[in-house]
Amino acid sequence: MGDCEAHLPSPPGSGPGLDPGPPQAPDHVASNRALWDAWSPKWVAMGRHAWASDDPDWGIWSVPERDVRALPPVDGRDVVELGCGTAYWSAWLARRGARVVGLDNSSKQLATARTLQQEHTLVFPLVHADAEHAPFRDQSFDLAISEYGAAIWCDPYRWIPEAARLLRPGGELVFLRNSILFSLCAPDAEEPAGDRLLRDYFGLHRLEWTDDGAVNFSLGVGPIIRLFRENGFEILDCIELQAPSGTPVAVGGNLARAPGAALSSVGEAPMSYAIVKFPEPREVFIDDQAQGSNLSATGRPRILFVNAGIHTFRLGGNDSDPASQQVDVAECPILDPFVGEFKKC
Ligand SMILES: C[S@@+](CC[C@H](N)C(=O)[O-])C[C@H]1O[C@@H](n2cnc3c(N)ncnc32)[C@H](O)[C@@H]1O
Repeated sequence: MGDCEAHLPSPPGSGPGLDPGPPQAPDHVASNRALWDAWSPKWVAMGRHAWASDDPDWGIWSVPERDVRALPPVDGRDVVELGCGTAYWSAWLARRGARVVGLDNSSKQLATARTLQQEHTLVFPLVHADAEHAPFRDQSFDLAISEYGAAIWCDPYRWIPEAARLLRPGGELVFLRNSILFSLCAPDAEEPAGDRLLRDYFGLHRLEWTDDGAVNFSLGVGPIIRLFRENGFEILDCIELQAPSGTPVAVGGNLARAPGAALSSVGEAPMSYAIVKFPEPREVFIDDQAQGSNLSATGRPRILFVNAGIHTFRLGGNDSDPASQQVDVAECPILDPFVGEFKKC
């Protein structure tokens, strides 16, 4: 297991092994920290409820892990939760025999986690740090997990390379993030996502919520696949969670930030659930001569990912008429992109 000392974030791009990624305002870690410190009292009850359960589940719809089956065996494994909040996922994994470390950017969230540890007599290391610059040695963990933590609050061009650095060969990264559709259709105000595309799919990256100043991140299908592969990850699966039938189309609450509150009027918009594995070191064979075939000259399958349709969903229209810039989601089979098939190369 790696070092677990408290650690304040370094300036972006200065940490070991980091890809600085595209230019970013360096402020999102500090501003999100202030927000989460302020919001933390609202998350105590939810954290206490989750700690009391022993049936792990995922996301705002509490889809049971026994159905999702995203996780590898964790007994005896070194696990880090990146953006653990009140650390209920860490607790669930610790009860299953993992040597777990919870990391979070908010000292107030960690204070709640510490209280809940005392209440349940279940103590594991909690580290106050930025998941984009985690204070652990290379290859310290077998599993990195994030449920709406680093997965949405950290810049993927920083935290994905960092997760790769932290994992041992053969380790796995399992994370839950919002669906891309949500990122495109969620208004800035604290309201459910609507049935209109409010943002351009292309260039999707940093999301600034003007109502409260929160900064989230989301990447489109192509960029995130490229990012995984650039960092040595092999995509094992991409599970899209669906709201259980009967989930009310509720109002009042931003899907990303009000667990349990609202189902978007977009319908049962799935939450994207990506599971990627950090493989044993291997070579990637690319054979330009093999065009037209999905086999390289070595006989190994290459990734064949046809992402039809996205290019038809650009926001267009007349600048002076915002309504003309909106595209009916009903016309946009944008839910489909993550259903691509990923093969080992
Ligand atoms: C929605 S909570 C996710 C935790 C837990 N699954 C939950 O739902 O309570 C988001 C957490 O991400 C943390 N976070 C935000 N930015 C972070 C960063 N740069 N590094 C680590 N954690 C971060 C926040 O402090 C917050 O506790």
